[in-house]
Amino acid sequence: MSEKNWQNDSEYVALVSDLLVRDEVLRLAEFTQHYYSNRLEHSLHVSYRSYLIGKKLDLNTRALARAGLLHDLFYYDWRNTKFDMGTHAYVHPRIALRNAEKLTDLTPMEKDIIVKHMFGATKALPRYKESWVVTLVDDYCALEEVGDPLYHRVADKIKLRFGVSI
Ligand SMILES: [Fe+2]
Ligand SMILES: [Fe+2]
Repeated sequence: MSEKNWQNDSEYVALVSDLLVRDEVLRLAEFTQHYYSNRLEHSLHVSYRSYLIGKKLDLNTRALARAGLLHDLFYYDWRNTKFDMGTHAYVHPRIALRNAEKLTDLTPMEKDIIVKHMFGATKALPRYKESWVVTLVDDYCALEEVGDPLYHRVADKIKLRFGVSI
């Protein structure tokens, strides 16, 4: 199944359907994320690809689908917003976590996935395999969305680390 066809995957949709009717999630479509996509499309890409990898590896697909969808749940344009508390890379996972907690109950794994998804730019090590999957898939999707051929390299990393092709 192609990663673009999440709508036809009823098993996946069942895991996120309660979130996909919420304005707080749908509003993400108003924000440009990377140059060619909005934040909702990006979040769905990350969520569904992470879910597919999790299925192959027998990981927690519910946590991957849900936290993948909520990992960038923030409502500002990161290109023209500055923070006193730190960089966008540091701040936005924490804002996303706070917004996600208002929306739904989160398991410790789901919280870890959201707050560690910028690993590399932030220092705290992901605690679960699922968190590693989402941080790598997020990199991959971001590069792919801007048409950067570097995404092949991230795909290689995912293959090396998890033995699955993306
Ligand atoms: Fe992010
Ligand atoms: Fe992201």
